[in-house]
Amino acid sequence: MLYINTKGGVGKTTTSINLCGVIASQGHKVLLVDNDPTSGSTQILNIENEQGLTLYDLYRNSKITFDDCITKYNDYIDVITNVIGSANLEIELSHKRNTKETMLKSKFEKFENKTDYDYIIIDNAPSTGLISLNALAISDYYLMVIDNSPLAMQGLVLMEGMIAEMKDISLNDNLKLLGILRNNFDKTTLFSKKISQIVEKRFQQDLFKTIIYNSVKYVEAITVHKPINYYVKGGKYVDAYKDLYYEIISRIK
Ligand SMILES: Nc1ncnc2c1ncn2[C@@H]1O[C@H](COP(=O)(O)OP(=O)(O)O)[C@@H](O)[C@H]1O
Ligand SMILES: [Mg+2]
Repeated sequence: MLYINTKGGVGKTTTSINLCGVIASQGHKVLLVDNDPTSGSTQILNIENEQGLTLYDLYRNSKITFDDCITKYNDYIDVITNVIGSANLEIELSHKRNTKETMLKSKFEKFENKTDYDYIIIDNAPSTGLISLNALAISDYYLMVIDNSPLAMQGLVLMEGMIAEMKDISLNDNLKLLGILRNNFDKTTLFSKKISQIVEKRFQQDLFKTIIYNSVKYVEAITVHKPINYYVKGGKYVDAYKDLYYEIISRIK
C-alpha cells in the first residue's frame, strides 16, 4: 500500500506510521518503506541505522537486495530506512536509461522474505517524479491523503494525471486506488466541513468514511517517536486508526 499526495504536509508519514502501529497491534507483521528522500518516517521512528543499508543503497547498487536493507523497529514492524542525502537520487535515476522507473520493481521480484509480511506500506515523497513512479510500480494499492486545504485537492488532481500516465506506459496494470483519506480535518470549522462536503461529492465511495481529525496527540506521539497506539493506550485517537484499518481490510478482501 502506498501513501501519496504530491503535496507535502498532508499527513502521509503520520498516517503510514500510525497505521503500522495499528496493524502491529492486531498481531500482523508490517514492513514500512521510507520512500522519501527527506526520510520523515525514518526520523520519526528514530531508527538508528548508521552502518546498515538503506533504500538509497537499494536504488543505487545492483547487488543489494530488499532483504539486505531491513531494519527492525520491534517484533511486528520492520523498516527500510532512508537517508537525507538521497535527495539527488531523482537525478541519478534519470540517467538510468531503461530501468529508471523499474529499479525497485526488479528488486522487489527478488525480495525473498516478502512473504514474512502481512502488509508492506510505502511512505512516499510529495513528488510526481521517478522515485514515486518506482513505488507505484510495485504497489497493489495506493492510498491518497488529503488535508482540509484546497491545495491538497490540487495534489490529487496531479496524482490522477500521474497514474493515468503510468497506466499508459503499462508500468503496473494491477494498481488500484484503495481510498482517499481525510486527515487533519477540523470538527468545528465551517471551512473543514465545506471541504469535506466537496470531496464527498467528488470522490463518493472512494473516500474513506473514517476521518482523522486534527489533534495535538498525533503530534505528541511523533515527537516521542511512536505510533499513536504506542503513545496512548486506547481512546478515540487510536480508535480512528483502527476504524481506518478495518475499512482498508474490507476493501482489500
Ligand atoms: N491528524 C493530525 N493532527 C495534527 N497534526 C497532524 C495530523 N496529521 C499530521 N499532522 C502534522 O502535520 C505535519 C505534516 O504531517 P506529515 O505526516 O509529515 O505529512 P507528509 O508526510 O504528507 O508531508 C506534521 O507536523 C504532523 O505532525
Ligand atoms: Mg512525509
